[in-house]
Amino acid sequence: MQEITISDKTFERFISEKQIAQRVAELGQLISEDYKDKNPLFLVLLKGAYVFASDLVKHFLHPCSISFFRLSSYKGMASSGVLSFKDVFDEDIEGRNIVVLEDIVDTGHTLSGFLPALNKLNPKSVKVVSLLSKPDVLQGKVEIDYLGFEIPPAFVVGYGLDFDEQGRNFPEIYQLKK
Ligand code: IMP
Repeated sequence: MQEITISDKTFERFISEKQIAQRVAELGQLISEDYKDKNPLFLVLLKGAYVFASDLVKHFLHPCSISFFRLSSYKGMASSGVLSFKDVFDEDIEGRNIVVLEDIVDTGHTLSGFLPALNKLNPKSVKVVSLLSKPDVLQGKVEIDYLGFEIPPAFVVGYGLDFDEQGRNFPEIYQLKK
């Protein structure tokens, strides 16, 4: 679909299913090479990263485990910067090679709150994978080790990303129409 409408907002197609699949496969291959003997623990940040994570891990054909966390710092279209853990860690982090899977890094508040909390649990290593990043609005420093696409600051939905809980189901990524 060229355009979708959610509430009263129109979004236009921005990254196609094919482009996403290609890039996710590339990231999966890179991570496979780097982690094939490391039995990583993929930590999926819910809800937004679930579609990305599900596709990405299918390219990782080595021992690994997968866990899920729900962090919410985003309401509507404005990032509040407030971080709250909805779930507790259900896997031992200590001594593990952690690969955090995120859908998008916007201001960076989510990760700059989450990563220090994670590091307190003494993982062996922590790396970050994000499908998208908006470098123009990033505040402070957040290191993304594996990045899918850099995008301009416009709001996006689809492929797991939502606008007020709508739009996660679309297989492509759409950008708010000006
Ligand atoms: P940050 O804390 O500002 O980096 O925001 C990260 C979180 O905000 C992401 O995990 C998303 O859930 C949400 N977010 C940021 N930008 C967008 C967007 O354009 N569309 C949908 N969600 C977004």
